[in-house]
Amino acid sequence: MSKKERANFGSKLGVILASAGSAIGLGNIWRFPYETGNHGGAAFILIYLACILLLGLPIMISEFLIGRHSRSNTARAYQVLAPGTQWKWVGRIGVGTGFLILSYYSVVAGWTFEYVFEAVTNKFAGKTSDEFIQSFQAFSSNPWKPVLWLVAFLLSTHFIIVKGVEKGIERSSKIMMPTLFILIIILVGCSITLPGADKGIEFLLKPDFSKVDSSVFLGAMGQAFFSMSLGMGCLCTYASYFSKETNLTKTAFSVGLIDTLVAILAGFIIFPAAFAVGINPDAGPSLIFITLPNVFQQAFSGVPVLAYLFSVLFYILLAVAALTSTISMHEVVTAYLHEEFKFTRSRAAQIVTGSCIILGIFCSLSLGPTQDYTLFGMGTFDLFDFVTTKIMLPLGGMLIAIFTGWYLDKKIVWEEVTNDGTLKMPLYKAFIFLLRFIAPIAITLVFIDELGLLGT
Ligand code: PHE
Repeated sequence: MSKKERANFGSKLGVILASAGSAIGLGNIWRFPYETGNHGGAAFILIYLACILLLGLPIMISEFLIGRHSRSNTARAYQVLAPGTQWKWVGRIGVGTGFLILSYYSVVAGWTFEYVFEAVTNKFAGKTSDEFIQSFQAFSSNPWKPVLWLVAFLLSTHFIIVKGVEKGIERSSKIMMPTLFILIIILVGCSITLPGADKGIEFLLKPDFSKVDSSVFLGAMGQAFFSMSLGMGCLCTYASYFSKETNLTKTAFSVGLIDTLVAILAGFIIFPAAFAVGINPDAGPSLIFITLPNVFQQAFSGVPVLAYLFSVLFYILLAVAALTSTISMHEVVTAYLHEEFKFTRSRAAQIVTGSCIILGIFCSLSLGPTQDYTLFGMGTFDLFDFVTTKIMLPLGGMLIAIFTGWYLDKKIVWEEVTNDGTLKMPLYKAFIFLLRFIAPIAITLVFIDELGLLGT
């Protein structure tokens, strides 16, 4: 495809919002709190922050420059920049990873639709925290309800994808993201003022390093990649739509900052509330779905109208945040099929949506009716999450770091990060150092440690 034919994001804000839209999603609001809860709180967060800074940001800039320079989908990008080599597999594996994440992510995204529905029909009113737990369990193990919402969610994603890049992605991100941010701030205020919330705040701020083991490192690293949409060519594909003027480093810092802020703030909504109402912080994937409705009920117990309005608005925005993320995963696979196999864009999108629905159904059922069928002790949903987040994304990230740090002509790297010498890049040397040494070594060590080979 020639450069002219490829769509572009219309504005600077559009670029940041679309990338932030991809990054901010269930990863921040659903996955970050429950991983933090499973791994003991503050110490996990500190390691997570280190991963964002030392691995996430340099790898995000790399993905940006690979995408913008090649102006191609993530698989073709490596063929353009490293013709005739095996690097194309980094892109191809990325497409596969995106496809798998989309399948299980859409299950949880579908849950947000159910919660929008429950909020709108005022089902939360008057429930106790035990009742919230029970009703979540009943819902998630119901054989058909979550599946219907999953299908509805994937069809919504499909609809935006076929409407095209600028109109669909950019426009929806522009309004919804800032609104979500404001709402999150308000909810933090509500949650930390609940009686008994201080234990939750302590959990988030007081690190207990005695709980840190190899799984905490792997969890934090995987979460950093997942949350920033890194390691599978998603931001690489988006960057292929960036304009020549986009400042890649600045965009990466803005996206990284917003993404991290939203995750931490989500922690400040969930944990104070969870401790206040006596829900275990390690409740796992159900954590936000059983904690949040409590926040709305308790914080606004005197004013039911407010409880109603806030819960409706919150779940709508959560669904939209999930949608801007599923769009970005879908786009990676659709752009690949469209440009590499000459399917029309809408046919490519149909193939992706159809296959994700089928895989998604397996994931969804594995949390209820088929939960006894496991592989390596995990059902399909958990297995997809583990393999993609804890193995494929960090591996993809490591290969991207090695590609940019060692293989790619430094002239190209320099031209891209400085926009042909017009921008300053004071941290260029540190950037290359992190890519060449820190990222590959750190990721390899975490993998080896997790396999138990370091003897800890
Ligand atoms: N970053 C998204 C989130 O936090 C999830 C995602 C992962 C999106 C990988 C694209 C690629 O919800």
